[in-house]
Amino acid sequence: MTDKQILLLPGPTPVPPRVALAMARPAINHRGPEFSELLHTVTQGLKRVFKTNNDVVILTASGTGGMEAAVANLLSPGDKALVVTVGVFGERFVKIAQRFGVETEVLAFPYGQAADPAAVAERLARDKAGEIKAILVQHNETSTGVLNDIEAISKARGDHPALLVVDTISGLAAADLRVDEWGIDVAIAGSQKAFMVPPGLTMLSLSDRAWQAVEKCKNHRYYLDLKDARNYGLKGQTPHTPAVSLLYGLKEALAMLEEETLEKSFRRHACLRDMVRAGIKALGLEPLADDRVASPSVTAVKVPAGLKPADITVPLREKHGVVVAGGQGQVKDRVFRIGHLGYVNHMDVLSGLAALEEVLASLGVISVSGIGVAKALEVYQKFNA
Ligand SMILES: Cc1ncc(COP(=O)(O)O)c(C=O)c1O
Repeated sequence: MTDKQILLLPGPTPVPPRVALAMARPAINHRGPEFSELLHTVTQGLKRVFKTNNDVVILTASGTGGMEAAVANLLSPGDKALVVTVGVFGERFVKIAQRFGVETEVLAFPYGQAADPAAVAERLARDKAGEIKAILVQHNETSTGVLNDIEAISKARGDHPALLVVDTISGLAAADLRVDEWGIDVAIAGSQKAFMVPPGLTMLSLSDRAWQAVEKCKNHRYYLDLKDARNYGLKGQTPHTPAVSLLYGLKEALAMLEEETLEKSFRRHACLRDMVRAGIKALGLEPLADDRVASPSVTAVKVPAGLKPADITVPLREKHGVVVAGGQGQVKDRVFRIGHLGYVNHMDVLSGLAALEEVLASLGVISVSGIGVAKALEVYQKFNA
């Protein structure tokens, strides 16, 4: 059988049959009442996941479009942003901001480490003139498998007026994020991660302070104009033709998340994270990130000496149908990444670990013993005792 795959990617994640079926509905008029109802339901559901009463807008674009929309709508050419980076997606924020003429100051932390809130506090304390207009940071850095402490970073901001812009594309619904309680001005999500929907939608929440910045912003934008999105949203529409099928999928996925509850989704993801980490460590492999900052969505695993990521990822896919991701950025040749977010359960992870063990054995790194699966199963039992 060649078409059966176990997707252990950090996005796109597997799509639940319920979501796929919901997306197969016949077309509707996106200027009609059915669409208004759909948009309203999805927007309200998203607010519960973002934990916010702020406006939430949905754009037809991948997550990067959401990052670009945040920059282009909040920051004018010449404005200064503090970009806190812990990997590739932080670096992407730098590139986007620079393309839009924003002056970037980069506070970079080594790959595999989390951002230090004290360093953010120290930098902002020195900005007596309030030149830094925004802090751009990832909640979950997908390239390294690190979860930043956004609550602590928000506290580190103190009374500084900078807007806090958080890319939670691979974090939201897998890890807790409290937009209102933590004072997040803009949070950016993506459909193909823990929302279990195919790629193509990005969802952003904006605080009142963020909207004030939008009013003043002089950067160019047309398709990604957030004010347009909000104004049309008030009429139950979107400015341009939306990805209606994906919105039907998102409505169903939000219903699934509500049935599971967010708390149980966070716990499931934490369990999968700990299963993967216990399993790979038992096989003699090392995660890039320390346990204390480990992502519940994805684990970057260091490749054993003398091997390349493809030596592992290709046989995993070709022999076992287990699809994992390669490395990115500075650790491109040093890690492969096991995704464990979205529509993934313990059996997917156990299968992935069994396949990994077989591949490592066929490469002569270990001999087959089942130890990775056994250790992961122990974790599963502890979580579900
Ligand atoms: C943290 C993070 N930010 C941004 C992106 C970019 O999203 P997209 O690939 O949907 O444009 C990703 C995608 O993997 C991501 O994980």
